Amino acid sequence: MPVEPPESPPASEGPRHVALIMDGNGRWAQARGLPRTIGHREGVQALKRTVQAAPALGIRCLTVFGFSTENWRRPAEEVSDLMGLVRSYVASDLKRLEREGVRVRVLGSRAGLPADIVSIIERAEETTAHNDKFLLQVAFNYGGRADIVEAAQRHADRVLAGQATGPLDEETLGQGLSTAGGPPVDVIVRTSGEQRLSNFLLWEAAYAELVFQNVLWPDYGPKALADVVEQYRNRDRRFGGLSAAPALAAC
Ligand code: FPP
Repeated sequence: MPVEPPESPPASEGPRHVALIMDGNGRWAQARGLPRTIGHREGVQALKRTVQAAPALGIRCLTVFGFSTENWRRPAEEVSDLMGLVRSYVASDLKRLEREGVRVRVLGSRAGLPADIVSIIERAEETTAHNDKFLLQVAFNYGGRADIVEAAQRHADRVLAGQATGPLDEETLGQGLSTAGGPPVDVIVRTSGEQRLSNFLLWEAAYAELVFQNVLWPDYGPKALADVVEQYRNRDRRFGGLSAAPALAAC
């Protein structure tokens, strides 16, 4: 028996939780004859602008895809630069995020990450754990399929240890995901014109609206995010039921 779709306010009230696939850093740099790493650095500036703009648009939670389990396939120099950006982002922004009431949560596997990155992630989560004005979730070393497999394995381990019984259901599996306890995802956005999920929030995408924007991530900011809110407000979220809007009269 599937769980009930989440209780969500009407789309006209705007999204509370926006998830972003920040795509196009490499193409942004390439178009300017710059190395890809510069594109990622500009991507961090776009992330800062976007986080700052979100609360005024009524958004209470942002989830961003910072590094996927597939990104390890990139050249070692690029991987190392992405790790370096996490170090500098936390070093430059953690105090401000804490002061502004932002809780930081990092989704994904810590296995295989450099030890200092794991400590940085733990420090960011611990320092901001008491905040409740805004939730910033960073998917890092994250893969949607792996997250589902780990949740299923966690349940199997609990059954084997005699701590859980019964068949696995949607509610129990959902509680084992790294997004457990967070608000339901209202809309998933991908920038750069590509139209796929690339292993991002596969379970959570079940009832999310999808928005694809042509802007490259380093150019992202308040205006593009406001456009997402506007598009979302005009969606008719039915969760498999019938429209709340009056049916069109027969011609
Ligand atoms: C996709 O662009 C973007 C990424 C793989 C990384 C996103 C990371 C950041 C915006 C900065 C670092 C993040 C944190 C959490 C501080 P791409 O390289 O695939 O672009 P392309 O498709 O144009 O090549």
